[in-house]
Amino acid sequence: MRLLPALALAAALALPARADPGFARLEGHGGPVRSVAVAPDGSRALTTSFDNSVGVWSLNSPTHLGWLEGHAAAVNHAVFAGAGRVLSAGDDFALILWDLASGRPVHRMEGHKGKVLAVAVSPDGATAASASWDGSVGLWDLASGENTGWVTVGTNVNDVAFAADGKGLYTAGYDGEVKFWDLSDGPAAASATVLHSHGFGVNVIAVDEARGWLALGGLDGGVLVMDLATREIVADLTADRRPVLALALSPDRSLMAVGDGEGYIHVVRTEDWSTERDFHAVARGPVWALAFTGDGQGLISGGLDDFATVWPIAEAASVAETEQPHRFHLSEGLSNGERQFARKCSICHSLTPDGKRRAGPTLFGLFGRRAGSLEGYTYSDALAGSDIVWSAETIDLLFDLGPDHYTPGSKMPMQRITGEEDRADLIAYLREATKGTEQ
Ligand code: HEC
Repeated sequence: MRLLPALALAAALALPARADPGFARLEGHGGPVRSVAVAPDGSRALTTSFDNSVGVWSLNSPTHLGWLEGHAAAVNHAVFAGAGRVLSAGDDFALILWDLASGRPVHRMEGHKGKVLAVAVSPDGATAASASWDGSVGLWDLASGENTGWVTVGTNVNDVAFAADGKGLYTAGYDGEVKFWDLSDGPAAASATVLHSHGFGVNVIAVDEARGWLALGGLDGGVLVMDLATREIVADLTADRRPVLALALSPDRSLMAVGDGEGYIHVVRTEDWSTERDFHAVARGPVWALAFTGDGQGLISGGLDDFATVWPIAEAASVAETEQPHRFHLSEGLSNGERQFARKCSICHSLTPDGKRRAGPTLFGLFGRRAGSLEGYTYSDALAGSDIVWSAETIDLLFDLGPDHYTPGSKMPMQRITGEEDRADLIAYLREATKGTEQ
């Protein structure tokens, strides 16, 4: 797998200088972390991001292993798909099956007409299901990469899960319905049973067929657990924090964690649905990425920040009481501006004239340069046709408003730097570090 030099730096920053046992940051993404998944043996984790990439991490002593780059837009979800394989899906409507050893795509699976929010792999590892906002679930043969059919759900599909025997699917939709689809006669002929009509969009589901329950998390903040046999609601875990964005199960399924739009994580015991921990995990913004570590003792969470956090559940309550939940000390010696660049830009931009081209153009000689004008780089039409000239003011606007607003249609991923001082420091650093002939 490719490990870019700049990422070696980013990875080095990931380890807190002070020993915080059990705590770590998975750091290096260039945008918010959208999802996280942990391998069944607990050794590795995947993060997906608005920066179009999938991060692969070792959890033994958290280190970055590589980036899977191939999606043309935000990656919404990735899961481990059997030995040495990873399946990812994103806003580019595509699924990619990756070979972990080489970091390369094995199959690129296309056919959806809307973004793909979630993927699931059948218990035998042979088939993938993809939940899309085109109103369908796609089924894919992972050996060949071929589509094997579509289940027409008829509403934005937010989440999907396989039945334990692989012959059925659970879906969660924007129309508020949680459905079970019997696939015995093939996807096209699949018949649906409505398990629950929630009234509000259902974002996420978690299923434990062995113990006979399904949990759902809704747009309205609702967290309900139903008995699969009777379809009765057996627990209402609604905490009135909306929307619910993530549900995660510990490997032994004794714990379920709920992440919401207000930055809380609620950990409950599935035995009696009592609260194990309920804490404010991030000062600002949502928890939309959530997974248990392999031993079930820790959680990995992500949201608007461009890193994911690994933390021991047992310490979560006391952590939440402090004003700043994550007190990590990055390596001393870097200025704030340099650190901003290392963490948020260096994945995609170099600063040298002959700078090896990354996803983005080199920023060498940036000040005074017209947007989209560097020879030899293939810009989007949005930047190529722009009359913006890069200066302290325009760079400030770019990250105050975010590329999606300041340069709509740009290939640069959606990301904002909300701190005025962080932007000023970054710009001061860039002014020095990009000095070229134009200066
Ligand atoms: C995940 C990749 C990625 C990250 C992270 C990223 N960029 Fe970009 N950037 C791009 C791409 C791709 C383009 C070209 C956009 C286009 O053609 O629409 C670009 C374009 C730009 C441009 C316009 C350059 C020109 O020649 O017109 C500037 C300025 C810029 N980025 C600055 C930054 C800064 C500063 C950061 C960090 C805060 C950053 N970028 C983070 C991918 C990225």
